Amino acid sequence: MNDKQLVAIQAARQVQDGMIVGLGTGSTANYFIEELARRHREQGLRITTASSSVASALQAQEQGLPLVALEHLRKLDLYVDGADEITPSLALLKGRGYDLVREKLLARASDRFIVLADKSKLVSHLGEKFPIPVEVMPFAWQLVKTSLESLGITVSLRQNAAKDGWAITSYGSLVLELQLPKALNSGELNQLLNNIPGIVEHGVFDELADAVFIADNGQVEEIWKNP
Ligand code: A5P
Repeated sequence: MNDKQLVAIQAARQVQDGMIVGLGTGSTANYFIEELARRHREQGLRITTASSSVASALQAQEQGLPLVALEHLRKLDLYVDGADEITPSLALLKGRGYDLVREKLLARASDRFIVLADKSKLVSHLGEKFPIPVEVMPFAWQLVKTSLESLGITVSLRQNAAKDGWAITSYGSLVLELQLPKALNSGELNQLLNNIPGIVEHGVFDELADAVFIADNGQVEEIWKNP
């Protein structure tokens, strides 16, 4: 069993009968979906799930998990997802995929948000290893870019996978990728991005994670915000 599987199985133990569970996106979240489906099938675990992306919805559907559309939910019990970077204060960078809006909605609407990762995701500040993704309304991208550049931030428009056009999110937004001139506190960065008109959502998840489960060489460490 690899580290991602291990951490996903440990998180799946948090799921109890009757819960509404948000499903994350990415290779680690996929292992969580697999384990949840196994418990549903073999142990008769009664759950409802909601997906953070088209990819996780398909995965859940294929594995026979009961799925409900987000518009039918008022809240969730638990959301389990991966992340691209994690700071010591449990601030996250997310959104390497194309469903930032849904990911942040689930994180905010869930009673508990558990993040699954291996040690490679730990950083001292956000933006250390990856650019910060910012979803923008297509007609606003140049204006948003100018606002960010006036703050000394380097901005580029994300290309599609074939590098022959621009990346478009599930909601038809363009994505700007930000390189910061210096390390910023995640709270400040969150505020700064929240305050720029034309930004639909961004990859800074500040004060949203309740716990991070970190796998390292066959061991899992659980870091809870309020132990
Ligand atoms: C998706 O947009 C991201 O926020 C993912 O949660 C992230 O890329 C984690 O993926 P892995 O588990 O494959 O590293």
